[in-house]
Amino acid sequence: MEIFTMLFFFTSLLFSILSISNTKDIITPSVSIRDGETLVSSGGSFKLGFFSPGNSINRYLGIWYNEISPQTVVWVANRENPLTHLSAGALNITDQGALVLLSDTNRNSIVWSSNTSIKFIRKPVAQLLESGNLVVKDGNELVWQSFDYPTDNLLPGMKLGWNSKTGLNKVLSSWKDADDPALGEFSFSIDRSGYPQLVVKKGRRAQYRLGSWDGLGFTGSPELRSGNELFKFDFVSNESEVSYKFELLKDALHSRLLLNLSGSLQRFMWVDKSQSRNIIYSAPVDRCDTYNLCGAYAFSFCKLGIDPQCSCLQGFVPKSPRDWNSKNTSLGCVPKTPLGCSNGDRFQSFTRAKLPDTSSSWIDSTMSLEECKKMCLRNCSCTAYANLDISEGGSGCLLWFGELIDIKEFDSGGQDLFVRTALLDDIKTSKPSGVKKKVAIIASVGLLVMGVIILGLVFYKRKKKLKAQGKMKNIREKNFDFECGNEDMELITFDLATVSRATDNFSNNNKLGEGGFGPVYKGILIEGQDIAVKRLSKCSGQGIKEFMNEVILIAKLQHRNLVKLLGCCIEGDEKMLIYEYMPNKSLDYFIFVATCLLSTVVDGLFSIKSDVYSFGVMVLEIVSGKKNRGFIIQTTSLTF
Ligand SMILES: *[C@@H]1O[C@H](CO)[C@@H](O)[C@H](O)[C@H]1NC(C)=O
Ligand SMILES: *[C@@H]1O[C@H](CO)[C@@H](O)[C@H](O)[C@H]1NC(C)=O
Ligand SMILES: *[C@@H]1O[C@H](CO)[C@@H](O)[C@H](O)[C@H]1NC(C)=O
Ligand SMILES: *[C@@H]1O[C@H](CO)[C@@H](O)[C@H](O)[C@H]1NC(C)=O
Ligand SMILES: *[C@@H]1O[C@H](CO)[C@@H](O)[C@H](O)[C@H]1NC(C)=O
Ligand SMILES: *[C@@H]1O[C@H](CO)[C@@H](O)[C@H](O)[C@H]1NC(C)=O
Repeated sequence: MEIFTMLFFFTSLLFSILSISNTKDIITPSVSIRDGETLVSSGGSFKLGFFSPGNSINRYLGIWYNEISPQTVVWVANRENPLTHLSAGALNITDQGALVLLSDTNRNSIVWSSNTSIKFIRKPVAQLLESGNLVVKDGNELVWQSFDYPTDNLLPGMKLGWNSKTGLNKVLSSWKDADDPALGEFSFSIDRSGYPQLVVKKGRRAQYRLGSWDGLGFTGSPELRSGNELFKFDFVSNESEVSYKFELLKDALHSRLLLNLSGSLQRFMWVDKSQSRNIIYSAPVDRCDTYNLCGAYAFSFCKLGIDPQCSCLQGFVPKSPRDWNSKNTSLGCVPKTPLGCSNGDRFQSFTRAKLPDTSSSWIDSTMSLEECKKMCLRNCSCTAYANLDISEGGSGCLLWFGELIDIKEFDSGGQDLFVRTALLDDIKTSKPSGVKKKVAIIASVGLLVMGVIILGLVFYKRKKKLKAQGKMKNIREKNFDFECGNEDMELITFDLATVSRATDNFSNNNKLGEGGFGPVYKGILIEGQDIAVKRLSKCSGQGIKEFMNEVILIAKLQHRNLVKLLGCCIEGDEKMLIYEYMPNKSLDYFIFVATCLLSTVVDGLFSIKSDVYSFGVMVLEIVSGKKNRGFIIQTTSLTF
């Protein structure tokens, strides 16, 4: 056994030394690559040849980095069908342009073939491009390429995904183990069952999602997006292809994306051609990336650093609270209030989201977010919507139907998801985050303050009205005690000196006329306002109470047909009413009607009818030339 291994080691070494001089740059029907010989890319970055992985003695045809040590294989041709003997293999190209891997030991049996069968072949040539792509060309026509049959590495320019022209679905698949490049358990592919998304699966089960394309990158990996100086990511989804690829923006850079043995994606990047150990990104990033960690029926999300990691979306509650409380979140969450469909559901925004599984999603790239919302609202089974593309301010529409599965909340990055909830669910029931919370608080406080002000106003008005009604009642009951200048009445108390000064000490020159109640004087206040002063001192039989009743009634009426009462003056025997002075107008009101018709108010209540009545009285007075001394108004209702 020992001797065999030793022998193998030395022969390998011998072949390695020999292969230095055994490099070729093309394969043609007359030029083949035998074990020990290699095909080198034009710029010298990649090499194609036979190798034995890890501790295996099996021989495989593969492509690896030319200058990187230890040997880093990026593509394997015969991963399922190894050659079992050293130096037994040869790679030929047929006249039909098919690459064939032949085994010497078994009468040139075909171990692996590119299966190409092109008619009209002129001169087939196989070549290893500087990108690491092994191509077969017929003239300028590309007949076959290794990039269409990926192994576990995605190289720059290599497309993952589906192509309708070739019918191929390009998938990365992990090695079985470090010694065996055979198909392992893990695959990395574009899931096309709904809106395309990148998924890593173990067998048929999803392990984690990088998610759907958001215009800049994939929703599950906000760290790595277009717009940086190093990478350009490209996603195409149309009738002819659904694909993802990355490109490097600087020539000096090298990078690859590996689906490793344990199912993780590792992105390597390096500057020096011979160094490959720089891992700049790996997925899954954390436990929250584990597919569907927070429940089968979902409507839940995962966030690191909070306990428990799984929470229900706003407006949703655990399907099984008992399980949930004992940290078994496998059943997920359900709507707290059943969704009401078209009769008034609404949407709650969830920020910094890794968007949910899109395997049953629908898209429209032309719709605005508002149209998207309406579209979602119209369909009862639509549970959420989001912008399809977040570059350039956001565009397009992405809709979800049914459960929302596998949502993660990022600390930063991510995008807005609008989740349908019942109208009745309150903001208070859950924890809105960040800016939303602030807005909610400000809005609530604002509403509260407004409410208090409105309530205050209503109470104030009501109180005022009640008070006024109370006063009217008091007037009727004649037990009213009132102070001139009460602010409720908006009346000013004038002192005798002021009135006296304004009317030039009640001079006869200022006298406008005289009624049964007493004389009326014109006056000017210091402020310059013209006033008319009714001096009631001679109005017989009128006590303070009666006078005040008049004041209140006139003030309350402030009737458009009456002159505005500004205030009053009570000092000693003097009782005066101070009116706005209206030149050429309403003088008769002062003199004959407006005042002395009141002292006699008993059950009388004022209304518009009072005017009509007063007008009648005035007409009679004018006709008869006699003054009326008082009357009773007999109306029963008061309509201010
Ligand atoms: C493979 O190519 C070599 C060299 O061109 C040739 O000698 C050999 O016959 C070829 N084998 C087959 C099976 O075509
Ligand atoms: C070529 O065809 C064989 C038999 O149909 C198949 O097993 C093999 O996987 C194919 N090879 C490629 C590279 O598609
Ligand atoms: C799909 O997109 C690719 C890449 O942008 C483009 O070359 C191709 O013409 C498109 N096909 C259709 C049917 O739009
Ligand atoms: C796969 O990648 C992950 C993440 O970088 C790493 O932790 C793990 O050790 C790798 N597995 C192997 C077998 O290299
Ligand atoms: C979690 O709860 C589900 C449903 O009740 C149950 O089937 C499952 O066994 C539980 N898992 C654990 C780990 O307890
Ligand atoms: C709602 O959307 C689903 C999924 O696209 C569709 O099957 C269903 O017909 C739609 N229902 C209505 C009423 O439009």
